[in-house]
Amino acid sequence: MTSTLTHADKTGLYETRIDELLAEMTLTEKVGQLTQFSGFHDVTGPAPAEWRAAQKHHLLQNGLIGSMLNVVGVEAVRNYQKFAVENSRLGIPMMFAYDVIHGQKTMCPIPLAEAASWDLNLIRKSARVAAIEAAAQGLNWTFAPMVDVSREPRWGRVMEGAGEDPYLGSRIAEARVKGFQGDNLSANDTILATIKHFAAYGFAEAGKEYNTAEIGTTTLHNMVLPPFDAALKNANPRSVMNAFNTVNGIPGTGDAALQRDWLKGNQKFDGVVVSDWGSALEMIAHGFVADEREAAKVAILAGSDIDMESYVYLDHLENLVESGEVDEAVIDDAVRRVLRVKFELGLFDDPYRYIDSEREQTRLFTESHLNTALAMARKSIVLLKNERGALPLSADKKIALIGALAVDQDAPLGNWRADADAHSAMSIMDGFDEAGLDYVYSYGVTVQLGDSHFEYPVHVNYENRDGFDEAVAIARDMDQVVLVVGETARMSGEGRSRADIGLPGLQQELLEAIHAVNPNIVLIVMSGRPLVLSWADANVPAIVQVWHLGHRSGGAITDVLTGKENPSGKLPMSFPRSVGQIPIYYNHLNTGRPGPRDEVTWAHYSDEKNSPLYAFGHGLSYTWFEYSDLTTRLEIDHVDVSFRVKNAGHRDGEEVAQLYIRDRVASIARPVKELKGFEKVHLSAGETKRIHLKLKGDELGFFNTQGNFVIEQGEFDVFVGGTSDAPLHTMFNLSDEHIMSFGAK
Ligand code: NOJ
Repeated sequence: MTSTLTHADKTGLYETRIDELLAEMTLTEKVGQLTQFSGFHDVTGPAPAEWRAAQKHHLLQNGLIGSMLNVVGVEAVRNYQKFAVENSRLGIPMMFAYDVIHGQKTMCPIPLAEAASWDLNLIRKSARVAAIEAAAQGLNWTFAPMVDVSREPRWGRVMEGAGEDPYLGSRIAEARVKGFQGDNLSANDTILATIKHFAAYGFAEAGKEYNTAEIGTTTLHNMVLPPFDAALKNANPRSVMNAFNTVNGIPGTGDAALQRDWLKGNQKFDGVVVSDWGSALEMIAHGFVADEREAAKVAILAGSDIDMESYVYLDHLENLVESGEVDEAVIDDAVRRVLRVKFELGLFDDPYRYIDSEREQTRLFTESHLNTALAMARKSIVLLKNERGALPLSADKKIALIGALAVDQDAPLGNWRADADAHSAMSIMDGFDEAGLDYVYSYGVTVQLGDSHFEYPVHVNYENRDGFDEAVAIARDMDQVVLVVGETARMSGEGRSRADIGLPGLQQELLEAIHAVNPNIVLIVMSGRPLVLSWADANVPAIVQVWHLGHRSGGAITDVLTGKENPSGKLPMSFPRSVGQIPIYYNHLNTGRPGPRDEVTWAHYSDEKNSPLYAFGHGLSYTWFEYSDLTTRLEIDHVDVSFRVKNAGHRDGEEVAQLYIRDRVASIARPVKELKGFEKVHLSAGETKRIHLKLKGDELGFFNTQGNFVIEQGEFDVFVGGTSDAPLHTMFNLSDEHIMSFGAK
């Protein structure tokens, strides 16, 4: 096979071989291909009954397990693969999946942080590094990227996504899928990507993990589905994972309209749909099916091909076919998909393709991968506030470095750290030392009692103030305080929803105690989600959002604090002023009473502002950028939006120039602003560049209440700038003739 073919080109090449294989397979063997078991390397869902583990060996020996998750490392993978290939009748190789979310051994920043870079090349490269390392450990399938749009910072899984915007989320979904899958899926260092969770998992009510979502047709099509659509059209992910939650009362695993009609029908998706962990079984708890047998029937008919850890296919599918309740053609279609991706991975040519001890020795945690992690970390940092010349730090000031997270080598690894070694990241103190900075350190207060990474529940420190006095004394003596606060790794991620997203534990109290003696505070916020930082914003001169940045966290943060790196990150999610504002997002509808008015009857809170503390797209630099000369020109197949950006300061820097539109009047109310383009541009001090961005038909239309894509004539506002609050404005008029020349979607 030539390596110049992309996997999309290859689709169709294997069908005859799949036909032959299907003809040879018994029904039991077919069901085996649709069954996925977990190994013991990691626990990423509720533990199965012990007898299932024993059953696994019997099944493996007979070729009755199609794929596994949580088996990691060449030796372990080889053992299982040997079972499947050498002992079973047909010798069909297995696939090995793992949650390789932001790295395998080398941790890059968490996905939400990477999204803040708006740097698609780097994001793709980061996924590429993860794929190389995962493949070197015998894996050939990742359950990433999560492409769930979310407006819910209380939801711990926002750390795993790209934030609140479907346009940015779409570009990032494409970049990450391409990074994992590369140009040639059968190469031994590329792996299958999974877009998840299908669908609307990010709309869990009140940000509570696994919770219900209620979504209207227009929100589903305009907000939730676009990143799935973009990835499917432009990056060809070979797998999709459905979702635990119900959407409008239907659990994702049993949703035929989404899986059969939209995904496999409209989108012509010919890869494989995998359930989430036990999600077929969970349809019983949802009250959607009566028992396991019905769960199996509903899931397979709805288009969920592989059953991860529910065992309902294993136990019931054969009987369902024999009784005539499920047509064997349905099973064949699901099996065909599984076999197809196995062919595409090259596993039929060589089942041991990903299993190579030498690569496991040489391709993990390399200098070059760590350099990518550092580059990615630098670009992911967002400077939220910088007044009174607080940053960059000036060399002649005496610095107090305070906070348990400043020396934490584990928190920066974030959640979903795959096979990274615990406590192996560069801390901020390590970064200060490497840069030769002079400082005095005090921990102030611990964030978590006990340091076990796997500890659940996390014991947040609400009691122990032993370190307060020393930290306050040091802060009093120094010119400048660098105070590091936020969340440990396990405070965000799956199952880590929080109702209060202020600084956990006693950190707010410490901040206020230090502020009382020395207000010259640079606040470093390490977290897996937007936190409520209103007090800090009102009281400290500088705030830097550093998320969980991976292995090179401390180096990247130090580079930004010292000015070696000019920060360029922009928020992929709004930061609320208070929890009561949530969900708060920039692309909201206007309401009939948008205000502001000097009276009670308009859309507002009587005890809080409407605006977020920090808006989507916000992020400062040590220089500043001026936008001017905004024009639009209607071309044959697009609208050309052009403007000038000037670096008006004295330092070189990078700016994310953002383009937003508003469709003023339409057949459904449209958002007050929607991101429709951006460009990350490097500008030397004093330099000006003209930027051209194209608005195509896809960007100007929307899905209506019937779920149909329409572009409507009329006036469009255009805004450009370095934030969603972009003030530079113009408008254009789109006629029916233009729409005709743009062509239908
Ligand atoms: C549950 C999570 O929702 C999903 O994203 C993950 O891939 C699976 N567990 C497997 O670990």
